[in-house]
Amino acid sequence: MSGRINGVLSILALNLLFVGVAGLRTAEAADPAAGQAVFRAQCGICHSVQTGHNMIGPSLFGIVGRKTGSETDFHYSTANQNSNLTWSPDVLDKYLESPRTVIPGTKMTYAGLKDAAKRADLIAYLETLK
Ligand code: HEC
Repeated sequence: MSGRINGVLSILALNLLFVGVAGLRTAEAADPAAGQAVFRAQCGICHSVQTGHNMIGPSLFGIVGRKTGSETDFHYSTANQNSNLTWSPDVLDKYLESPRTVIPGTKMTYAGLKDAAKRADLIAYLETLK
């Protein structure tokens, strides 16, 4: 009888361990769906994700891997235009944390997203825009 209870208990413990590990995993892996929600809340007011559709900011369609200032119909600041960066996930991560640190003089009036996990989700979403 007690062996049986022990068996049940160890299965319970295993389940808890599994749920724990699965929970950690989702917390660590970047989630594009969560990133889309961040985009809608924080970027969508100024940026479209449709190709060629510029608003207050340039379209972010195909942004990952693109060079700074390459949306031809958008009037960039000279700071952005001349920064000569490529929007790799790494550069985007630093820029989105603090735009004015990476491109001093940018006209993007966005203070920055300090939460690293949210930035990772957001960048995972930006990577789907192609
Ligand atoms: C208040 C409006 C505004 C908000 C909010 C905003 N941006 Fe911008 N963004 C701009 C403007 C304007 C530019 C052009 C900057 C320049 O020319 O100096 C820009 C430029 C950029 C660029 C460089 C594009 C290129 O082609 O070089 C990226 C990447 C970018 N924004 C991403 C984002 C993301 C992601 C968010 C949300 C976290 C965001 N922006 C929030 C207005 C905004």
